[in-house]
Amino acid sequence: MPDPAPALVLRGAGRRYGERAALRDVTLELEAGRTLVVFGPNGAGKTTLLRMLATLLRPHAGEVRVLGRPLPGDGYAVRGRIGFLGHEALLYRELSGRENLRFHAKLHRVAAGRVDEVLDAVGMTARCGDPVAELSRGMVQRLAIARAVLHEPELLLLDEPLANLDPAAAAQVAPLIGVGGAGPSDRRTRVVTSHDPAGGLQGADVALGLKGGRVALLAAATDVEPAQIAELYR
Ligand SMILES: Nc1ncnc2c1ncn2[C@@H]1O[C@H](COP(=O)(O)OP(=O)(O)OP(=O)(O)O)[C@@H](O)[C@H]1O
Ligand SMILES: [Mg+2]
Repeated sequence: MPDPAPALVLRGAGRRYGERAALRDVTLELEAGRTLVVFGPNGAGKTTLLRMLATLLRPHAGEVRVLGRPLPGDGYAVRGRIGFLGHEALLYRELSGRENLRFHAKLHRVAAGRVDEVLDAVGMTARCGDPVAELSRGMVQRLAIARAVLHEPELLLLDEPLANLDPAAAAQVAPLIGVGGAGPSDRRTRVVTSHDPAGGLQGADVALGLKGGRVALLAAATDVEPAQIAELYR
C-alpha cells in the first residue's frame, strides 16, 4: 500500500507583515497522526506558522498543503477539519461558556451532548453558565480548549495550550489535547507550540525550532535533547 499523503507539507513557505518577514523558507512534512512541537523565542514566528496552517493567514511564498489540500486556494475545504487554539480565546465574552460551545456545536453539526461532555473534561461544568467576561484567565483558557476540540478535528493547532492553567488543570486537559505524553492513541495530527523544552518534547514525534522566522532545528523528537531547545533561546 502506498503511504497516505502527509497531513502537512510546507515547501519554502514564507509570510511577511508589511516589510517584516515573520516566516522564511520553512520546509517540512508531517505524517497524519503525528505531533509536531514548535519552539522558538518570542517573535520567532510560531503563532504566524499556526495561523497560516489554520487558514487565517495566507502564505506569501512557497507551497503549503494542509490535510492534502493546497492553501490558500482550498482553505474552505479544510477549515472545518481543523481545531485552532490561539493566543485569543475566540469566545463571545457576553455569552456563557455553554452558550459559546452550543453555538460552535451547531456550526459544526456536533450533537448537543458533546458540549456537556467537553465542559466536564475541562472542569468547567460548575461555571459554564457564567458570561465569559466574568471568568478568570485560566477558566477562559479551559473553555478555549473545549471549543478547539469540540468537533473532534483531524488537525489540532495548539498555540501554548497550557498557558494560564494551574498544574491540576494542565493535567486534566492533557488527555483531551494529547500533550505532555498523556495523549490518547487517536489518529489526530497536532501542532503544538511550547516554551518548555522537556515538557514540549514529551509526547511529540517531531520537533521544530524557529529563530527569526527560519528553521533552526528540525528533527525527530526522540533525537533532540532539551539543552538543544534551550540553545534556541540564547
Ligand atoms: N499582525 C501583525 N502585524 C505585524 N507584525 C506582526 C503581526 N503578528 C506578528 N508580527 C510579527 O511577526 C513576527 C513573528 O511573530 P509571532 O507572533 O509569529 O511570534 P511567536 O513565535 O508566536 O512569538 P511569542 O512566543 O511571543 O508568541 C514578530 O516579529 C512579530 O512582531
Ligand atoms: Mg505566539
